Amino acid sequence: MGLVTSTEMFKKAYEGHYAIGAFNVNNMEIIQGIVEAAVEANSPVILQVSSGARKYANQIYLKKLVEAAIEDSKQRGNEIDIVLHLDHGDSFELCKDCIDSGFTSVMIDGSKLPFEENVALTRKVVEYAHAHGVVVEAELGKLAGVEDDVKVEEKDAMYTSPDEAVEFVKLTGCDSLAIAIGTSHGAYKFKGEPKLRIDILKEITDRLPGFPLVLHGASSVPQEFVSMCNEYGGNIPGARGVTEELLREAAKYGVCKINIDSDIRLAMTANIRKCFVESPEVFDPRTYLGEARRAVKDMVKHKIVDVLGSENKMQ
Ligand code: G3H
Ligand code: 13P
Ligand code: ZN
Repeated sequence: MGLVTSTEMFKKAYEGHYAIGAFNVNNMEIIQGIVEAAVEANSPVILQVSSGARKYANQIYLKKLVEAAIEDSKQRGNEIDIVLHLDHGDSFELCKDCIDSGFTSVMIDGSKLPFEENVALTRKVVEYAHAHGVVVEAELGKLAGVEDDVKVEEKDAMYTSPDEAVEFVKLTGCDSLAIAIGTSHGAYKFKGEPKLRIDILKEITDRLPGFPLVLHGASSVPQEFVSMCNEYGGNIPGARGVTEELLREAAKYGVCKINIDSDIRLAMTANIRKCFVESPEVFDPRTYLGEARRAVKDMVKHKIVDVLGSENKMQ
């Protein structure tokens, strides 16, 4: 099928109690690593582009690289379904630009706005997106962590209210909703034991049956990569993520999209650091970027097969 919206993907995931991985893409090696893993695992996948990614790579390159990945998967004899998604769009204009340039899904993140303003902005994006065959993810509640270089402390995060979630979905017509139940962006998610408000998730699912929910800030921060970074000259003590068990549990209760970015950063950085320290004679970027790409592929395949449950869901 190639480039698709997430509508069918989420319907199947919801019914099958598994989730689709939404991975952030910033360059060729990341796109190749993710798509190779998804092709091998015969899994649908979401590739998401943030404003930062657009600034870094120029979205024309990212769009063409995603098209190339689809073409490559076709030539390998397994053309998987891929959603090209805008991550954390903060304005109607940005969403419109992505819709006009061929994205199949956009996120309008009005979570920092008062409820009524979030509703109005989301509604405006939904109207434009639906008229162009594109789906919309919205957000309600406030995650802790780092976003656009702004740090929200754990104590200042705000869990999504189930009452507001029902009202918000009704008023906006959005296709999926990102909720705040204790996850956060970045590699430092928990000071103590990792925990999520699964009780809030269950209540939202009960009140919005069949409606796809999204978990942002869902990297597991594998300790293997944290140790490797620190061993080879890095300095990221105490980095900690959402456990894989918690993610599996969330996927049982209506979470159809699980966002992962930090784990990609960690996998790449750990392996590049190792390469530099162990092979100081290396100066060909293909050597260390090749290692980084392999690490992204292995990490994504593990997520698909052992955590998300989307392996072999292409039929
Ligand atoms: O939610 C944020 C994502 O990790 C994207 O991060 O804005 O640094 O590209 P970025
Ligand atoms: P992580 O920082 O946990 O990888 O979250 C990524 C994310 O939510 C992108 O929107
Ligand atoms: Zn996010």
